[in-house]
Amino acid sequence: MLKGGLIPNRIYLVKGGPGAGKTIFSIQFLYTGVKNGENVIYVTLEEPTEEIKENMKLLGMNLDEYPNFHIIDASPTGKLAIFGDLFFRDFSPDLQGLRTALEQALEQIKPSRVVIDPITMLELAAEKEIEYRRNLLIFFQMLKKFNVTVILTTERTQESAEDFLVSGIIELLNYEIQGKTIRGIRIRKIRGSDFDEQIRPYRITSQGIEVYSEERLFT
Ligand SMILES: Nc1ncnc2c1ncn2[C@@H]1O[C@H](COP(=O)(O)OP(=O)(O)OP(=O)(O)O)[C@@H](O)[C@H]1O
Ligand SMILES: [Mg+2]
Repeated sequence: MLKGGLIPNRIYLVKGGPGAGKTIFSIQFLYTGVKNGENVIYVTLEEPTEEIKENMKLLGMNLDEYPNFHIIDASPTGKLAIFGDLFFRDFSPDLQGLRTALEQALEQIKPSRVVIDPITMLELAAEKEIEYRRNLLIFFQMLKKFNVTVILTTERTQESAEDFLVSGIIELLNYEIQGKTIRGIRIRKIRGSDFDEQIRPYRITSQGIEVYSEERLFT
């Protein structure tokens, strides 16, 4: 569908509602990298590390097997929590803390792939839209200093500020048809590349996400 994959060293957004497969999708992206011997960083803002590791094991991905798979736990129960006790108070020091921690990790680990899952939390941590946009821009500027391909995930399915800042958007769409969930993947934009514009079906199986790139979702 991407006609050759993601263009490296750019920032991409994966959008999808709850359970659409954003976490699985982005970890598969990183897993492919570590299997190639690359260093990767996964920043979790929602699910605790242990839970993610357990879930991924069931999909055939043992993250502990790869020392170059680095996880930054910024989930509510993790060390770098941007929420926790500070919920509904002033988050900015924590956001700054997260950015600094990530920047340090990027300098030390020199990863080729990074995932931040989901960035929705950064939005919630901002009091105003303008503050969120500013934080996002600072985040992007920081990421752009490094040679790294980044996937950000978001639960926001409607158009928003980050859509215009990223180089590409992939949507995980879930439809309910006759009481059954039908899953479709669509590439919304990839700057600098041609791509398949059709919505294609995908499934989440015991092997992870499988895209049926020749099939049509609707006939
Ligand atoms: N072992 C498995 N076998 C088959 N399907 C699975 C398995 N594990 C998870 N799934 C499917 O994947 C979904 C969860 O995927 P994932 O955690 O990537 O979604 P998400 O978009 O990150 O959700 P959230 O917004 O809640 O973080 C489950 O709802 C289920 O449908
Ligand atoms: Mg998730």
